[in-house]
Amino acid sequence: MSTHNVWTHKGTFLLAAVGSAVGLGNLWRFPYLTGENGGGAFILIYALTIFAVGIPILIAETMLGRASRRSPIMGMRFLTRTHDTSRAWESIGWLGAAAAFLILSFYSVIAGWAIHYTWQMLTGSLVGADAATIGAGFDALLASPGLLTLYHTLFIIASGLIVGMGIHKGIESGLRIMMPALFVILLVVLAYGITNGDFGAAASFLFTFNVGDLSLEGWLQAMGQSFFTLSLGMGAIMAYGAYMASEASLSRTAFAVAFIDTAVAMVAGLAIFSLVFGAGLDAAAGPGLMFVTLPLAFAEMPFGGLIGGVFFILVLGAAISSSISLIEPVAAFLVERFDLTRPQAVFVMVVASWALGLLTVVSFNLWAEASPFHTLFGRSAFDFIELLTNIFMPLGGMLIALFAGWALTHSEVMKEMRTSETWFRTWRFLVRFVAPAAVAFVFLRTIPQVEG
Ligand code: PFF
Ligand code: NA
Repeated sequence: MSTHNVWTHKGTFLLAAVGSAVGLGNLWRFPYLTGENGGGAFILIYALTIFAVGIPILIAETMLGRASRRSPIMGMRFLTRTHDTSRAWESIGWLGAAAAFLILSFYSVIAGWAIHYTWQMLTGSLVGADAATIGAGFDALLASPGLLTLYHTLFIIASGLIVGMGIHKGIESGLRIMMPALFVILLVVLAYGITNGDFGAAASFLFTFNVGDLSLEGWLQAMGQSFFTLSLGMGAIMAYGAYMASEASLSRTAFAVAFIDTAVAMVAGLAIFSLVFGAGLDAAAGPGLMFVTLPLAFAEMPFGGLIGGVFFILVLGAAISSSISLIEPVAAFLVERFDLTRPQAVFVMVVASWALGLLTVVSFNLWAEASPFHTLFGRSAFDFIELLTNIFMPLGGMLIALFAGWALTHSEVMKEMRTSETWFRTWRFLVRFVAPAAVAFVFLRTIPQVEG
């Protein structure tokens, strides 16, 4: 498709990239990882990687999308041909598509939990409930394959419908309504956290930097999180970049995306930990932090049901604006390569990912242990799929950095970046050496886990 689609406005790429970046990674994963890894030290490493590795790769990935004006797989094919380089670089597109498919499968299941909690909060069924009741409620949710499948199905259908309506009527219009609403809700929740919780404890937990506290494992998780949170290395940003206006600035946009994504994670962290500490609860609750600890905090507070409901709507909106960016690269590929209509392409992607998501569903119940999967891979399907994406995303990011750093010529990069020679050199040094080295480091540490 060389007569390409472009976003309606110069600023739409920013909106779409922020929509993709801000999601469960910020609201669910970031707070619980920070809680598990002792607070400030984790954030320090996380912020460092965002700036030294995340932003340069974000620029590189957007550049590859805009320079090719195609979906990631076809775009990399086009770029390797025009550069007469090895077709091995096409693996960037394939890795990305595989990662998108894998992430969507479990992302949708977890987002589905937020549907359950939105309902529970708004109907007031958790008001005044104690820790045991709320913990048992979460366990019961996870124990029910039927409920989990229902929510998973609802969430993925909603995401598919948006992408199926096209990049303008579906994605752009959807984001233009959702994103401003999300920021308003986030501020409401923050204000609520400040007035009803212990803001001082939250701030000192998040911003007391005690690097000695951090394990190597925490270091690595911080880095993995910085890829996940910026949607890097898997074609989502490349696919959106293909529609980016030629005159929009790559560097400024990338900084803005990283800044907003980080700010949302911090605000979410402050709000959540204010409530958690205010209610005297444990910060290190792990993945249950948002689904057990936080509902418990809401259960004890004035208007907790209402604000809690609004909070889980925020989680859902943020998750949908990210899941659509997981569908787009694969759907766009199917349209370009096989001449499918957009709805057909979305249908194929969504059904396949939905089916794979059933593995995540049963990981929490029927196949929790002693399943054929466990026996074969030594871990639950959900953990296995998450592990695969933890390998694919950094690997994709590294290849993107290397390709943009070494295969693209100075004049091509300058045509996209239009920037000072100094920033160009800095960026190129980061994508040629720093980002690949950092990823290689993480990667070498992740591999041993595959056997573990
Ligand atoms: N960045 C999203 C989040 O923080 O929740 C997750 C994500 C979306 C990862 C899209 C990758 C992606 F392509
Ligand atoms: Na994010």
